[in-house]
Amino acid sequence: MTAKILDGNALAQKLKEQVTKEVEAINHNGGDVGLAVILIGDDPASRIYVNHKKKDCVECGITSHEYQLSSDTSAEQVFELISNLNANDAINGILIQQPFPAHIDVKAVNEAVSPLKDVDAFRTDTVGKIAIGNYGGNPSSELSTLNSTFLPCTPAGVMELIHSSGVSISGSECVVVGRSNIVGKPMALMLLNENATVTVCHSRTRDLGEVTRRADILVSAVGRANLITADMVKNGAVVIDVGMNRGADGKLCGDIDYAKVSQKASFITPVPGGVGPMTRAILMQNTLTAHKLQNGA
Ligand code: GUN
Repeated sequence: MTAKILDGNALAQKLKEQVTKEVEAINHNGGDVGLAVILIGDDPASRIYVNHKKKDCVECGITSHEYQLSSDTSAEQVFELISNLNANDAINGILIQQPFPAHIDVKAVNEAVSPLKDVDAFRTDTVGKIAIGNYGGNPSSELSTLNSTFLPCTPAGVMELIHSSGVSISGSECVVVGRSNIVGKPMALMLLNENATVTVCHSRTRDLGEVTRRADILVSAVGRANLITADMVKNGAVVIDVGMNRGADGKLCGDIDYAKVSQKASFITPVPGGVGPMTRAILMQNTLTAHKLQNGA
């Protein structure tokens, strides 16, 4: 079997076109949709991600406000900036690019963002709503409707990619590799909300292959090249690669041995061009949602 490619670039384009239409209407009526992106330090990968997000903002008609802070910025200065952005009507969404320096407490930073501007969906109350299934449900069914909360960007992008395959999530065996707060945990919750049987694997999982081979839908979000080899994948599985690594050849690659696994899977996401653009498209959607929430739409 040769897998069909789930084209994240094409799907993201569709989603961004819908966002753009709505943003244009807001701009036409004299409004403005604004996203603040804070980058602390000089992590080169983060710089690339932030540049991509800025480009997406331009494409969607969203004003991006960038705050580049040096790595020795104090926690107090970061909290003061977030507090000012919370109070600034020109800013609808606030994103603090991770990772950031160890002297700044990630959890405290996440909680400092206003619940109305939490476009990363990192606040505990936002995560709580996802845990109890209190959000717009299937995001691909009504892309432009107001969700009752923000969707975590990468897991929501993955859900869109899986929906686009036409493969049913309900009742399927889903295996998520990785338990990060950004991807693995919310991913598992969102799959569970759509009635999958979900298993989460992590660094202490005794026999990773034994679990991944059960997966009808396999999502890897670890950050290690070639972690998932063909012998670890069931014939016909849907394989989603959230990893973003540099291979031995210096090229970008995911966690999945793409060449071999794509001979076995039914659907697969490439790296680059799979999950990455979808993550950013959901961020644009969340920023528009934030504007609506703040303007009583
Ligand atoms: N670093 C890696 N992914 C993300 C993300 O989705 N949001 C933020 N803020 N930082 C990240």
